[in-house]
Amino acid sequence: MEKIKIRGRHDLCLKGTVKISGAKNAVLPAIAASLLTKEKVHLQNVPQVKDVFTILTLMKDLGAEYEINDNSLCVQVRKINSYEASYTLVRAMRASILVLGPLLARYGKAMVALPGGCAIGSRPTDLHIHGFEKLGASIDLEHGYIRAESSRLQGTKIEFERKTVGGTENLLMAACLAKGETILKNCAKEPEVVDLCTLLIKMGARIDGVGEDVIRIKGTAELGGASHNIIPDRIESGTFLIAGALAGDSITIKNVRPDHLHTVIEKMKYSGVPITELSTHSLIVSKQENLKAQDITTSPYPGFPTDMQAQFTVLMTQAEGTSIITETIFDRRFSHINELLRLGANIEVSGDKAIVKGKTHLSGAETTATDLRASASLVLAGLIASGETTITEAHHLDRGYENLEKKLISLGADIERIKE
Ligand code: EPZ
Repeated sequence: MEKIKIRGRHDLCLKGTVKISGAKNAVLPAIAASLLTKEKVHLQNVPQVKDVFTILTLMKDLGAEYEINDNSLCVQVRKINSYEASYTLVRAMRASILVLGPLLARYGKAMVALPGGCAIGSRPTDLHIHGFEKLGASIDLEHGYIRAESSRLQGTKIEFERKTVGGTENLLMAACLAKGETILKNCAKEPEVVDLCTLLIKMGARIDGVGEDVIRIKGTAELGGASHNIIPDRIESGTFLIAGALAGDSITIKNVRPDHLHTVIEKMKYSGVPITELSTHSLIVSKQENLKAQDITTSPYPGFPTDMQAQFTVLMTQAEGTSIITETIFDRRFSHINELLRLGANIEVSGDKAIVKGKTHLSGAETTATDLRASASLVLAGLIASGETTITEAHHLDRGYENLEKKLISLGADIERIKE
């Protein structure tokens, strides 16, 4: 196992430029979408993170061929060898369920393990299953697997009971090859969903209402190949914005889409963080000594993203006053709090709220990562905690951050990875 060691300083000064990688949560559905065609799909700005290699392992098991060089990926699915996404892979990455829709649409069959729960909460799939049944698929849940079959999906109206990113993406992909028109209502509007629609349209899909609550898809007999540039990772961008707000002496963040982070930037500016939009693709952020406490409530896009909740909580430990952090998306996304308490934070969890009292001086300690974004929050806290912080289970970080330590070292952080 590996752990991360950070020698933090309360007066740490990070300086320089960091280039944001492609979005993990955009590239995963894009790779799944390559199941919808027998032609090549070329993706650029692909982040070399663990989840990408996990889904590529799954795609290979299904019969895909792929070639990845640096941040360029070419995937082609000429034939299918298997229809099954095993429990081992789904357990490792819940987003494996995104192969269900494309497999069902193109091959009429799919068998995907139920994901079970994870560190951030129960991860049900009822909204996905309900949608596929509405499209005419027969679904059996047996032995921990979703078994789906359909001779030809039939377009229809589907309204999601609640906004679901993966559910919207899965049904979008399935509807592209269904017979007739599908109308999806109450769709997720995350930039990653929009990026998937952009790719699908390049592949020949007929989609109206991209980025809106109601998306109309006119099914076609087949889709073709395409070439697509994955959008920048807005959560990595937000993570570096917080790093800059905690310890930055004018950090420049490049290859970012500020319009994808509007709510986060707005909340940080209300706290007093000086953030300047240099252009449509770069930001400058600096430390602010007198941060003001801010309440946040996570909600579907364009609201405050749940994937930034843990990182923003760290910033609020350095703000004067009390901040109330309300998590409405996942039922157990406060596992980072106990670790932050070990570093000296003053936070109390009550139901779906974490009440943060600042400003507290953090001191280095041994901590344990539990999930991707919780581990990012521990890195952020470790940067400004005086003394040494270690973070075990560091593999969680690698799921969604490309070269995080390297990028932080280039800004002046004292951080290294060691084998346990
Ligand atoms: C996506 O997960 C992201 N993952 C998550 O990012 C992100 O936190 C989440 O969307 C919310 O923005 C990827 O895109 C790969 P949901 P997803 O379906 O699709 C409930 C990260 O750190 N729900 O929008 O799984 C669900 O339990 C990860 O990068 C049902 O009830 O999220 C949750 O409470 C973590 N039934 C809520 O909806 C369903 O069938 C939102 O889930 C599906 C979901």
